[in-house]
Amino acid sequence: MNLLLLGRGKTGSLVAEVAAEHKHHTRIVGAKDNIGCAALTAENLAPFDTVIDFTAPHCVLSHIEACVKAGKNMVVGTTGWYKEMDHVRKLVEQHRTGFIFGPNFSIGVNLFFDIARIAATALNHDYSGQIFERHHAHKADAPSGTAIAIQRLIRESADAHEPLEITSFREGEVVGLHEVVFESAADRIYLCHDAKSRRGFAEGAIRTAEWLLGKKGFYDFKDVWREL
Ligand SMILES: NC(=O)c1ccc[n+]([C@@H]2O[C@H](COP(=O)([O-])OP(=O)(O)OC[C@H]3O[C@@H](n4cnc5c(N)ncnc54)[C@H](OP(=O)(O)O)[C@@H]3O)[C@@H](O)[C@H]2O)c1
Repeated sequence: MNLLLLGRGKTGSLVAEVAAEHKHHTRIVGAKDNIGCAALTAENLAPFDTVIDFTAPHCVLSHIEACVKAGKNMVVGTTGWYKEMDHVRKLVEQHRTGFIFGPNFSIGVNLFFDIARIAATALNHDYSGQIFERHHAHKADAPSGTAIAIQRLIRESADAHEPLEITSFREGEVVGLHEVVFESAADRIYLCHDAKSRRGFAEGAIRTAEWLLGKKGFYDFKDVWREL
């Protein structure tokens, strides 16, 4: 594939490495080459099959709008824009492109989502729930998109309407740690996913781009990771 990768930060640079291992051609664009979406004109986008975005919450929506309007398929790993989900879904449907997003492209985290979904039953049996997440000090958004996804799926899976608070910690170079704790008067249940590196995100993003090739529609990674 011919990939345009937006963001040469911690995750984007690793995505570029994995793309090269998978024998894809990649052009990587950072912030200073893309002021006001300068890199995302229809002409500049023409040679690419898919655009992959690992940038920042403040600019991702403008990238999505430019790429979808130009008819390009997109894999969006950047978080912090989900309040605009309906707007983006309509745009994708209107322009008949392929679009996939996910707060976390790691297979392990998506397995963890399934485990949390099953454990959510605890809320129907006198347990209360809490979510804790730790990330590196430079992370722009809090709570993390992954923690919000865990909160949503537990609420959807349990009949009870517990508050399910998220507590965020920002420290050092922590890649991404998510804990779910269910507590009753009798005991505690701890669930934990601890990312050792960004490799899982990068592998997932490239395999997702390969899966999306030639497809149209609006997809959530949690619904398709089993097919990768
Ligand atoms: N879905 C997943 O699996 C997953 C995994 C990890 C991270 N993420 C999300 O991905 C995003 C990036 O994370 P990160 O840890 O890689 O952040 P990061 O290290 O801060 O990298 C972000 C990069 O985006 C660049 N950038 C900013 N504005 C841009 C623009 N308009 N055009 C092109 N590049 C631009 C920045 O360039 P400069 O350095 O030049 O400013 C920076 O290099 C965050 O939202 C994070 O939550 C998602």
